[in-house]
Amino acid sequence: MKILVTGDAGQLGSYLVGELSKGHEVTGLDLRKPEHPAKGVRHVCGDIGDYRLAMDLCRHADAVIHTAAQVSVDRSVSDPVLDARENILGTLNMLEAATKSMVSQFIYISSAATYGNPQKIPLDEGHPREPLSPYGVSKLAGENYAFAFGATYGLKVTAIRPFNIYSVRQDPDSPYSGVISRFVGRAKAAEPLTVHGDGTQTRDFVHAGDVVAMIGLCLGNPKAHGQAFNCGTGKAVSVNQLADMVIKLSGKKIGRENYESRIGDIMHIIPDISKAKKVLGYRPATDLKKGLAEFF
Ligand code: UD1
Repeated sequence: MKILVTGDAGQLGSYLVGELSKGHEVTGLDLRKPEHPAKGVRHVCGDIGDYRLAMDLCRHADAVIHTAAQVSVDRSVSDPVLDARENILGTLNMLEAATKSMVSQFIYISSAATYGNPQKIPLDEGHPREPLSPYGVSKLAGENYAFAFGATYGLKVTAIRPFNIYSVRQDPDSPYSGVISRFVGRAKAAEPLTVHGDGTQTRDFVHAGDVVAMIGLCLGNPKAHGQAFNCGTGKAVSVNQLADMVIKLSGKKIGRENYESRIGDIMHIIPDISKAKKVLGYRPATDLKKGLAEFF
């Protein structure tokens, strides 16, 4: 199959193209040059908002996997217009190009942030969606557009809603990286861990490799068409528990600094992943302990 992956220089995209290149002809599209280029993958430097480029690439693709996005909740709060441009207009552009090029499947990487604060736990895919942050809104808009293209133009769409993705490939120095990368980076430098709020907020941390596995299960699978799937491990860990684990693994005496809660921060989030298990046969393979050990 010929597959176009947007965001191949990103954390998820970089693992994804590596895996897909084993059995497919893969092209990656990203603004940045990949730090971990995969053998046999053609990389194109460019913007998902560039319609002519998107058309050129989609014309030669059987499937599009859209991972490119502005991924930081915090950044969406400080620059909601940039967030909307990348996550809404960028997605819309890719959907338009994919539809006009008659690709056979469009897999949209959505987000658990589209749910907002849970009204019931665990959260299944039918849970109401009331995002708290501009980021949650933009990811939800992208997903809604994707399904609207399915209903209106017949594009075969699958949405995957990852919880908190982590891996050694996330940049620890970026202020917009996830909490695991931030904590590990600081622990390695023997600096105190920065906890926002009281640290009791929970997240389900899912290794990038497990998200790649779910995408693989959806690719070319008619049971995935028109469907959305939660992607996590099904287990939640608090930020305080995460800090304990990172400090223990570092083997150093490291303190913590408490800061104000972040604006738009969700308190508790635990996914129900039974739909993906049942429909796709998805089984997360990396638990947090094993995943964190990779960093040290
Ligand atoms: C993350 C993802 C987002 C994804 C969403 C799905 C990143 C950067 N963001 O958002 O793309 O769609 O999950 O659920 O990966 N925290 C600290 N100290 C820090 C950094 C963070 O205490 O130094 C706290 C935050 O306040 C938050 C929690 O850790 O409560 C997780 O934050 P973060 O890793 O930035 O991810 P989310 O905002 O959950």
